[in-house]
Amino acid sequence: MAEAKASLTRRQFVGGVSTALAGALAASGADAGFPRGFLWGAATAAHQVEGNNVNSDEWVLEHLKPTIFAEPSGDACDHYHRYGDDIALLAGLGFNTYRFSIEWSRIEPEQGFFSRAELEHYRRMLAACHEHRLTPMVTFNHFTTPRWFAALGGWENPASVDHFARYAERAARHLGDLIGLATTFNEPNLPRLLGWLSFDISGGTGALLQQAARAVGSDRFGFFLFADAEKALANMIPAHERALAAMKSGPGRFPVGVSLAMADEQAAGPDSSRDEKRRSVYGAWLEAAGKSDFLGVQVYTRARVGKDKDLGPEPGVELTQMGYEFWPEALEAVIRYSATQVRVPMYVTENGIGTEDDPRRIEYIRRAIAGVHNCLKAGIDVRGYIHWSLMDNYEWVFGYRPKFGLVSVDRQTQQRTLKPSARFLGDIARRNGL
Ligand code: BGC
Repeated sequence: MAEAKASLTRRQFVGGVSTALAGALAASGADAGFPRGFLWGAATAAHQVEGNNVNSDEWVLEHLKPTIFAEPSGDACDHYHRYGDDIALLAGLGFNTYRFSIEWSRIEPEQGFFSRAELEHYRRMLAACHEHRLTPMVTFNHFTTPRWFAALGGWENPASVDHFARYAERAARHLGDLIGLATTFNEPNLPRLLGWLSFDISGGTGALLQQAARAVGSDRFGFFLFADAEKALANMIPAHERALAAMKSGPGRFPVGVSLAMADEQAAGPDSSRDEKRRSVYGAWLEAAGKSDFLGVQVYTRARVGKDKDLGPEPGVELTQMGYEFWPEALEAVIRYSATQVRVPMYVTENGIGTEDDPRRIEYIRRAIAGVHNCLKAGIDVRGYIHWSLMDNYEWVFGYRPKFGLVSVDRQTQQRTLKPSARFLGDIARRNGL
C-alpha cells in the first residue's frame, strides 16, 4: 500500500478528492464503514519511547538539579532496540500505519556531522514497517533537537532555518524511498497555544534554560516547548517550507504535511476572543498546511475561550489525567473547522486520552471515531486516524505518570501488555468500520 501511494503523483494524491471519497464511502457498503485505504494506526515520538537520547536538548533539562521535569526519560520504552517487536505488535492488532519520529539529535549529534549508522537504524525501522504492511508516517521533528542546536538558541535563532533544512535534506535523501508519508514538524504552533492556557506554564522555565546554558557552556539554551512563540514562529514557518521542498526533491514520492495541536475552541460568552485565538494559534500554520500535501490534526479536548484566555475546565465535567476535560467530540469539531480553512486532505495524526481507566479510553475512542465518520459523511476528506499513543510513554515534564498507551509497558522488564482498548481500536481498523 505504501508503495502504491508513493507512486502516485502529487496531483493524483491531492486532487479529485470529494468524488473519489463519496465513491469509496458508497463502495464500503456499510453505513459505519470508512473509505478503502483509510489509514488506521498508532503513534509514538522518538524521545518519548526510544530511551537514552543523550544528545538531545531535553536530556540536558531532565538532568539539571533542580529541574521542573518530574523524572528523567532514561531507558523510556527501549523502543530503540525493541522497535521490531513493537511494529509486529501494532500490525498484529490490525493497524495499517505506524507514525513515529526520527531523532535529529541522533542523526546529527554534532553540528554538520551526520551519523550514517543512525540513519541506517531508521531505514531498518522503515523496512520493518513495510515487512508488516504498515505505511510509515515519519515525523522529522517531534519537539527535541540536538544539544548543539539548543546551545545556539534553538528555534529563536534565525540560523535554525538553515540547520533544519540541511538535516531534513540529509534524512530525506537517506530514507525517502521507504517513507509513506511525512510531516516536517509535530505541533509547531504549540508555543502560541500554550500562551492561551488558563494557567501560566512559564514558571521556572527561564531559570531552567539559564542553568542549561551554563551546563552546555553557552550563553543561551533554546528549547521548543519553552520558546518565545513569536521568534519560533518566524523561523519555523520558513524551516517547514525549506524542509518540505527538500523532501519533495526525492528519492521517493511521498506526501508531506504538518501536524498541528488543535482544540475545539468554544466561545465562552459574548466577549470571547475565540476568533482572535484561532487566528493567532492556527492562522499562519493553516496557511502553511494549505500549501503542503496534507494537514495533520492533533486533538485531545475542547477549550472554552474567555475574554483573553482559556477559562479552564467547566465545573462538573470529567477530567483526564492531564487535567483537561474528557471531550471526545472535540475531534469532529476541529476537523469541521479545519475543512473551512484548508483544501488539502486531512489526517488525524494524534487523538487520545491520558487515563488509568481503560474503559474510558474505549469510550473516548468510540465517540471520537464516530465523529470522524460524521465528517466523512459530510464529504470532508479525512484519510486516516492515528491514535496517541501505541504505548504508555514519557510525557515530557510530567514524566511517566500519564498513561496514553493502548499498550502498557513494565518499565523494569520492558514487557508489553495489551489493554482492551488496543483490541477495540485494532478491530475497528481490521473491519475498516465502527
Ligand atoms: C504531543 C505528544 C504528547 C501528547 C499527549 C501531543 O501534544 O505531540 O508528544 O505526548 O500530546 O500530551
